[in-house]
Amino acid sequence: MKKGNSTGYVAQLILVTTLLQACCATAFFVDAAPQPFVSPGYGLPGFNSMRHRSILRDEVAARLKELGNVSDSRHVLERTFLSPAALAAGRLLASWMRDAGLRTWEDELGNVHGRSDGANATAPALLLGSHLDTVIDAGKYDGALGIVTAIAAVKVLKIEGKLQQFPRPIEIIAFSDEEGIRFQTTFLGSSAIAGTFQPKHLKNVDARGISIGAALRAASHLGTLESLSTMKYEPTSVWGYVELHIEQGPVLEAHGLPLGVVEAIAGQTRLAVRVEGSQGHAGTVPMSMRKDPMIAAAQSIVAIENICTHPEKGVGGSRGATAMSTAVNHAGAIVCTVGEIHSWPGASNVIPGEVMFTIDVRSKDDSNRETNVVRIESEIRKICRKRGVGCVIERKHEANAIGCAPGLSDRLNAAAFTAMRELPPFRNNFTALEDGGFTAPTLVSGAGHDAMAMASLTQVGMLFLRCTGGVSHSPAEHVQDDDIWAGSLALLRFMEGVLGDLSQNQSA
Ligand SMILES: *[C@@H]1O[C@H](CO)[C@@H](O)[C@H](O)[C@H]1NC(C)=O
Ligand SMILES: *[C@@H]1O[C@H](CO)[C@@H](O)[C@H](O)[C@H]1NC(C)=O
Ligand SMILES: *[C@@H]1O[C@H](CO)[C@@H](O)[C@H](O)[C@H]1NC(C)=O
Repeated sequence: MKKGNSTGYVAQLILVTTLLQACCATAFFVDAAPQPFVSPGYGLPGFNSMRHRSILRDEVAARLKELGNVSDSRHVLERTFLSPAALAAGRLLASWMRDAGLRTWEDELGNVHGRSDGANATAPALLLGSHLDTVIDAGKYDGALGIVTAIAAVKVLKIEGKLQQFPRPIEIIAFSDEEGIRFQTTFLGSSAIAGTFQPKHLKNVDARGISIGAALRAASHLGTLESLSTMKYEPTSVWGYVELHIEQGPVLEAHGLPLGVVEAIAGQTRLAVRVEGSQGHAGTVPMSMRKDPMIAAAQSIVAIENICTHPEKGVGGSRGATAMSTAVNHAGAIVCTVGEIHSWPGASNVIPGEVMFTIDVRSKDDSNRETNVVRIESEIRKICRKRGVGCVIERKHEANAIGCAPGLSDRLNAAAFTAMRELPPFRNNFTALEDGGFTAPTLVSGAGHDAMAMASLTQVGMLFLRCTGGVSHSPAEHVQDDDIWAGSLALLRFMEGVLGDLSQNQSA
C-alpha cells in the first residue's frame, strides 16, 4: 500500500460515513459487514476491500460449490481429462471468464483460456491459472480455487475500469490435466503450452483402451502432433505465470495465517527396489538358514527413515533459510516415503521369495536429493549383501526442483501481506509470524503443480492458501470463506501492482 494514499482513505472514509449516516444504500456498503475498520497500527485498512467482498469472497465460494457438483460420478467428485464432467466444467468456467470481461476459447488439448488484451495486445502477457481436472473422490478446491479466484480478481479490475488500462494482456488458463489420473501422466495441458509435451504420450491409453489422440478427436479436436505443437507459446509473448493453490499441507494453519508465498517446488526421485531371497516353508526353515527378503526390506525402510531424518548436505547447498519450517523447507531438508510394498507369493505361511517396494524422495535442493538418494542406494545394497539376498534398485522418475522467480515472489509477498492486513479476520494474526516482519510465510511445495511445467516457458510465482487440517485429495478438503477472500484479494492486489508499473513507468 502506498503511503501517500492515507488522505484519500480519510476522504473516502468521511464520504462513506456521511453516506452511512444519511442511510443511503450505495454499492459502497451493501457488501460491507459492520466492522470497526479504524485500526491505527495498520492505517485505515478494510474499506476498499469490503467493497468487493461479494465478488471476491461470496461469489467465489458459491462458484466453487457449483463447480464441485460437476462430476462424472453421482457419489463422489471426479473430473478426469476430457471426461464429460471436465468438458462441462470447462464450459462453466468459460462463462464466468466472459462475465469477467475476457474472451474465451478452448485449445487443442482441452485447456480453457480467457484473455483480455489490456492496453497493449502485443506486450508479453501475464498468465494466471490452475487445473480443472480432479482426482477421484476429490475435494472441490484443489485446482478450481486458483482459476475461480483469478476470475474474481479480473472481474473486479473490469468493474473498476482497470482491465482496459492493464499494461499487458491478462490470460487465465484452466488446465485440462494436472492430476494425470486418466492417462497416468501429469501436466498434459500445461506442458503443451510450455512446449514440453512428449509426443510418445499421444499413444498412452486409459483403462478402457482409448488413446489420448482418440480422446481428443472424440472431443472435436484434431488430436495430432501437429495440432498440439501449434499450442506452444513463444517465451517472448509471456511475461510470467502466477498460480494460487491450496497448500495441501498443515503449515499455514499451524501459523494461523491464510496465505503463504511458495519459494520453490521440490524436486523428486522415485525408486523401485526388488529384493530377492529364497522362498520357503514358514514352519520348516530354521531362522539361521533363511534368506528372507522381507526382513531386508524392513531393515532398509528403517534405514531410509534414518537417512532422511538426518540428511547429508549436497555440494550445491541451499538457497538460504526461509521464514518457516515445513517438511522440505529447511536447508537440506528432505522427505522420503515408502508408500507401496508387495511380496511374492504373499501368503502367511510362506517365507517370501521376493519383495518389491517404492521410495519417493523430495527436496527443494537437487544436490541434497542426489546425495541422499545415493546414500539410500548404498545402504540398501549393504543390507542386502549382509543378509545374502539380491537387490535391484531402479530409478523410475526424476524431476528437478523449480525455483519461483524472486521478482514475482516479492510482488506476491507484498500482495499477500496487504490482503491479510486489509481483512479484519487476519489483521491481528501477524504476531503469529516469528519475525513479525512485513512478509507472508514462505513455503516449499512438496507437491507438483502446473507452475512446474510452466517454468520451462516463463518465470513462475505461486501463492498457497490454507486448507483445514492440511487435508487434500479428499471430499473433506475445506477452505474457509474468509481465506478464499484473502486469496482473491491477494491476486487483485498483485495485478494492481503490475498495473502500477505503467504509471511509475517501470519496466518489469
Ligand atoms: C449441488 O447438487 C446438490 C444435489 O443435486 C444440490 O442440492 C445443490 O443445490 C447443488 N449445489 C450447487 C451450488 O449447485
Ligand atoms: C506494446 O508492447 C510491445 C512489446 O513489448 C512494444 O514493443 C510496444 O512498444 C508496446 N506499445 C506501446 C504503445 O506501448
Ligand atoms: C490466528 O492465529 C491463531 C493461532 O495460530 C489461530 O488459531 C486462528 O485461527 C487465527 N485466526 C485466523 C482468522 O486465521
